[in-house]
This record gives sequence, structure tokens and C-alpha cells, in this order.
Amino acid sequence: MALLSVEKVRGGYGEADILNGASLTVGQDEVVVIIGPNGAGKSTLMKSVFGLVRLREGRVLLANQDITNAKPESLVTRGLSYVPQEKNVFPSLTVEENLEMGAFVRRDNWRPALERVYTLFPPLAEKRRAAAGSLSGGQRQMVAMGRSMMVDPKLMLLDEPTAGLSPKYIDLIFECVQAIHDQGIAVLMVEQNAKQALSICTRGVVLVAGEDRFTDAGPAMRDNPDIARMFLGG
Ligand SMILES: Nc1ncnc2c1ncn2[C@@H]1O[C@H](COP(=O)(O)OP(=O)(O)O)[C@@H](O)[C@H]1O
Ligand SMILES: [Mg+2]
Repeated sequence: MALLSVEKVRGGYGEADILNGASLTVGQDEVVVIIGPNGAGKSTLMKSVFGLVRLREGRVLLANQDITNAKPESLVTRGLSYVPQEKNVFPSLTVEENLEMGAFVRRDNWRPALERVYTLFPPLAEKRRAAAGSLSGGQRQMVAMGRSMMVDPKLMLLDEPTAGLSPKYIDLIFECVQAIHDQGIAVLMVEQNAKQALSICTRGVVLVAGEDRFTDAGPAMRDNPDIARMFLGG
């Protein structure tokens, strides 16, 4: 049974649908990467799973429960977390305050979650008292991912975590994604650095014009000449 199941969803921001029947699944032990051209609806799909874009048709199931158009706050308490592509940290707050913000829905003790984040991402422990805005882009992305771990999610949605980062930090972020996966957290991510993302993921999904067009194991997809020609820059 899939942990997340998106079934033929349609919806968007206004009159015209951006999502045109997209389907995909994420298994409990998977890292699934969505690739596709700009404007294909990748971010819209992530937002719709997290209840930020209204779906007109289709269903979203999390662990077999219908979460279609559920509110983000309720999804967080059901084990879903979402890291948007932009504005995903509070620059004037410290690293630790940012992480604590991630725990605001918890009524139980979140200290162990905080310690786990620091163990997983040691640079954040070092900079816990620094303003998030003073960190490098790669470290800010770590803060965003760390914050989304504060609810002990079952599934993390990551929208282009390496966007705008230098190659060194891109490698680091992919290592962080693998570390998150090693914690038993499933990941659904959108990535423009598709070759690298496909190398570390269990499965890729191609999204074009709001529809899933193709899926295969990550490395097989990376080495598929048709996919390479169309989506990976040759
Ligand atoms: N907030 C919004 N309001 C209206 N249209 C939007 C909004 N965000 C994105 N769109 C449109 O939806 C389409 C898909 O966007 P998006 O999901 O961001 O694509 P991708 O992430 O694949 O590049 C684009 O045509 C974009 O212009
Ligand atoms: Mg996008």
C-alpha cells in the first residue's frame, strides 16, 4: 500500500486547471522525484497535496485516508510536512527559533525532535543562535528541512531544495535528503537538477502539462536516452 496516493487530480488557481488528471504514488520507503518542464504544474501539485491549492476532481490519500483539500494544519498533525521553494525560513529569527516554529502544532515534548535535527545537520547545531538570514543558501535550506522535521513527519514534500545553490551545496542538500530518507521518512521532491536527483531517488515521475507521463526507477530514468534528450539536457 502506498503511503501517498494522488489519483487523477484536477485543479488550479482560477478558471483554467493547471493539474489535468495527474496521478502518482509514494511508498513508505521511497524518495520520488518529479521532473518536467517549467510551468508543468510541479509546484502546484505539491501545494495541492498540502491543501494550498484547491482540487476540483480526483483524490489524495495519505496512508489510505482521504486528505483531499484538507487544511495544512491538519495534514501536519497527520504526518505530512512541506518545504516550499521560496521564503521557507524566517530570516530575522535564529536557527533554533526557526526550528521551534516547526513544532508549533505539537503539544508533546518536541525537544527530542530538535536534538535529532541537530544530530542530522551538525552545521545547524553550531549556528543555533545565529539569525537564519545570516546563513549561506545551503544552510538556510537545511534550516527549512530541519523545521519540517520537527513534527516527525512520515512524508516530506520538498519543492526544488537545491534551486539557486552552488554545486558544493547542491551535493550537500542531496546528502541531507538521503539522511532524511535514512530516518525512515518518505520524500516527494521536485528537482531541476534532475540527473543528480534521479541518481539518489527510488523513482522518478515526469509531469507535463499537469499530467503524469512516465515513471521508472530513478537511475533507469536517468539513463533513458529519450528522457535525457527531453528533460535532462541531452
Ligand atoms: N499563484 C498562482 N496564481 C495563478 N497562476 C499560477 C500561480 N502559481 C502558478 N501559476 C501558474 O500555474 C502554472 C504551473 O505553475 P507551477 O506549478 O509553479 O509550475 P512548475 O513548478 O512545474 O514550474 C504556470 O502556468 C503558472 O503561471
Ligand atoms: Mg515549481
